[in-house]
Amino acid sequence: MAELIVALDFENAEEAYKLAEKVRGIVPWVKVGLELFVAEGPSMVKKFKDMGFSVFLDLKLYDIPNTVKGAAKSALLSGADLLTIHLSGGKRMAEAALEVSRAAGERMKIFGVSVLTSFDEGEVIGFDGKLAELVELLAKGAGEWGMHGIVCSGHEVEKIKSFAPQLKCLTPGIRLDGNNTSDDQRRVMTPYRAVMLGSDYLVVGRPITRAEDPRAAALSINAQIEKAMAELKA
Ligand code: C5P
Repeated sequence: MAELIVALDFENAEEAYKLAEKVRGIVPWVKVGLELFVAEGPSMVKKFKDMGFSVFLDLKLYDIPNTVKGAAKSALLSGADLLTIHLSGGKRMAEAALEVSRAAGERMKIFGVSVLTSFDEGEVIGFDGKLAELVELLAKGAGEWGMHGIVCSGHEVEKIKSFAPQLKCLTPGIRLDGNNTSDDQRRVMTPYRAVMLGSDYLVVGRPITRAEDPRAAALSINAQIEKAMAELKA
């Protein structure tokens, strides 16, 4: 079953709790990203866990293996269920995070970020190829290193699943109107289509957090997820 994650991209805890309360019971996951984490710290994670959510701690770690290992340990202690690292940090860095996860019975999963969706062609220093090739290279690494999953656009899911079916795909850039590019996201997709293509987790921010009725927005995304899951089963 594909699962919905609401991205709580707020600058303080109060706003984040208010939104979380509105979608409690219908959205299984919340994402705590850098903005909220830097402002409020690991106690947020515990609070969301107490509210009944699973927590995706999107810290996109990138540092020497020993430092990443320490940060992953702290993330585990905070209660996070899923932590992100940059795949470009390489095999030893990934293994440092995975070691922490394995020592805890893989209670906290480690997902790899491939190429940030904000990168345009030609912007990655020292890489002349197409960004899609780089995503593929990094995803192959993620598969070989034993990562639990990868953060990728819905457009890349099918390809990644073809060579690493065990990798869970977590997809941002979800829009209820799949053609809407009125904000900073460019490669967008509807929840229905992302699930049909094989996404396992949909991370949705503004379409829920800025909706007039966040609960109704989340319910309509859930309805699309359920419709796609039913069709995939049939
Ligand atoms: O508001 P919106 O639905 O665009 O939010 C998407 C969320 O997914 C944000 O929290 C953003 O940080 C995250 N994300 C992304 N692209 C990535 C990785 C994470 O948009 N490649």
